[in-house]
Amino acid sequence: MVVLMSDWATGTSSVPETYILPPGQRPGKLVFPVLSNVPLIDLENVAGEDQIIPHILEASQEFGCFYVTNHGVPLQLMGDAMAAVKEFLATPAENKAKFYSNSLDSKCRIYSSSINYDSEEVHYWRDNFTHHCHPLDEQIHLWPDNPSTYRAVIGEYSTQVRKLLFKILELFRRGMGLKRAGYFEGPLSGIQLMSVNHHIPCPDPTLTLGMPQHSDPNLITVLHQGHVPGLQVFRGGEWVDIEPLPHAFLVIPGLQLKVISNGKLNTPKHRVITNAKGGRTTIGTFLNPSQEAVIEAAAAADEDSKAYTSFTYKEFFKTFIGSGCDARLALQCFSSNTSSSTKM
Ligand code: OGA
Ligand code: NI
Repeated sequence: MVVLMSDWATGTSSVPETYILPPGQRPGKLVFPVLSNVPLIDLENVAGEDQIIPHILEASQEFGCFYVTNHGVPLQLMGDAMAAVKEFLATPAENKAKFYSNSLDSKCRIYSSSINYDSEEVHYWRDNFTHHCHPLDEQIHLWPDNPSTYRAVIGEYSTQVRKLLFKILELFRRGMGLKRAGYFEGPLSGIQLMSVNHHIPCPDPTLTLGMPQHSDPNLITVLHQGHVPGLQVFRGGEWVDIEPLPHAFLVIPGLQLKVISNGKLNTPKHRVITNAKGGRTTIGTFLNPSQEAVIEAAAAADEDSKAYTSFTYKEFFKTFIGSGCDARLALQCFSSNTSSSTKM
């Protein structure tokens, strides 16, 4: 059975040994440089989309992520969604136990650390609650009904964030010079997930992580971080803090977008640190390809110029799981120029 940190560890005065990372993987310190110039893109920029697109491309190439404001998701709804997920996480253990699962087949699941909880050597300091969101009428009845507002609030939130995701994908599509409107609709974005990360206060954040370093294996992520820092990106050879902007969403292109852009768009390596002062809760919304989706460079002139071989998301995902959920390592297996590439 998966036991949630929010049920057993609240108020714990030291980090249990099973959560202490080997010295080389620990944060090791409490204070990190802050990345102060994360690009901020106003989606209602009066100069129009032609002005916005180069900024988005540059931000993705240079930083691998960017903030969007005037994104169309009402601020009240962002606040209500954050309140709804926190309320659910604060309900008694029995209410959450109905959703305990480490299986990726479960369409609404809560677990601790990672889906590899039983086999991993060290646990991460987090609980995660993930559910499918689309089509809404096929998913919503699987979501919690306690708190009683959960389904209505998160249903509206996931509908609005979905619109935002497709707005951003259209900007990427135009920036990549792809002619067909709605290029990313259909199998490339067939699955919409909401992933809530919840980290209770940690007595010693130097020893453990809320999430290990990773790149998102999906097509694209938008992150509602609330107001508590914790996200870091690896930049210039060191880990740096991304300051949360509570009214904005952080857009993180996933590795599948990197492949479709033939390596032109970057996917940042990122991780989450914990803090001693308070808890942290974030809401990620992911678009993932469907299992049968074929992932390949959209506009490469010929096979030889493709950075990656074509693959189905199912093939990628199998390799991803086989690599211990290291998406970058998994993607290397599909790189065109590694003669030694072997699929796991
Ligand atoms: C993720 C992720 C960051 C955060 O869910 O993939 O990187 O701050 N989340 O919760
Ligand atoms: Ni991530």
